[in-house]
Amino acid sequence: MQVWTFIVLIVIILLILGFFIWINKDRKYTSSRTVASAYDAWTNDRLLEELWGDHVHLGYYKGSFRKTDFRTAKVDFVHELVRWSGLDQLPIGSRVLDVGCGIGGSSRILAKEYGFDVIGITISNAQVKRARDLTPNNCSCRFEVMDALNLQFDDGSFDGVWSVEAGPHMPDKQLYADEMLRVLRPGGFLAVADWNKRGPVSKPNSYWENFVMRQLLNQWAHPDFSSINGFRSNLVNSPFYCGSVDTEDWTNLTLPSWIDSIVEGFRRPVAVLLLGPGAVFKGLREIPTILLMRWAFANGLMEFGVFRSRG
Ligand SMILES: C[S@@+](CC[C@H](N)C(=O)[O-])C[C@H]1O[C@@H](n2cnc3c(N)ncnc32)[C@H](O)[C@@H]1O
Repeated sequence: MQVWTFIVLIVIILLILGFFIWINKDRKYTSSRTVASAYDAWTNDRLLEELWGDHVHLGYYKGSFRKTDFRTAKVDFVHELVRWSGLDQLPIGSRVLDVGCGIGGSSRILAKEYGFDVIGITISNAQVKRARDLTPNNCSCRFEVMDALNLQFDDGSFDGVWSVEAGPHMPDKQLYADEMLRVLRPGGFLAVADWNKRGPVSKPNSYWENFVMRQLLNQWAHPDFSSINGFRSNLVNSPFYCGSVDTEDWTNLTLPSWIDSIVEGFRRPVAVLLLGPGAVFKGLREIPTILLMRWAFANGLMEFGVFRSRG
């Protein structure tokens, strides 16, 4: 047997195994504990960090220029959202809250490159520990374990509020919007980016679309997705809303991320192998969901929404 045939066979076998693990062991949302333990596991095994760096979000791909480095696209995403949301109008030293901060990739950019005083909060203990370890002493960032639906901050205590791809984990989208707007001071800047389901359509979802949607929810501990208009209404209907809300659809600008996130595994095989055989299986386990995400965003079932508001 030729060596390539052997490798292809092994990959096929691993993919089949990964598929069966995937379909049988989902991470269906039951409470914020489901989310916390999923992120604790993703953080402690270091697989995502080895592959994608310290950002757990999609990249931004400008125009027709196709970047090959997912990590650069992620950093670009942060700068594009800062610019689009107007956060860059805030002076150095402004207080910014990062809601659902992961291991602090965005928080550190906001602190180091924009001079903000940043507090990142997440529901995962392991993420807070890792975020603190990754943050140098001279970086103006702090991290706390806290529920986004019960923020332990006074009203109007932040000049900016930032939240990237945390919304799909929130069981109460209205409370998520209310809490972010509550802690934002009058005139402050809100920047949110999220995975959204499409708005209402005239015909019901097909069997396949329902299957895909169920997997996108259950595999990654999502209670539900908002639509872009749905979350816009949550912001506008909040008792703390006092200005304007703009939205944009960045689906096409972020779409290459899904395939790139898989390609990173093949670009860094040594990093994955050094984490042990378990990491290879864990990585394979995520591939079907990533491919379904890609399909859903490419075919209009999902949309990548960005939201900005002035407090
Ligand atoms: C997809 S990750 C995005 C992480 C980070 N924003 C980034 O861009 O790298 C989602 C984040 O939301 C956090 N999260 C989910 N539910 C939360 C909740 N109820 N309260 C606080 N954080 C939450 C997760 O712990 C995780 O850090």
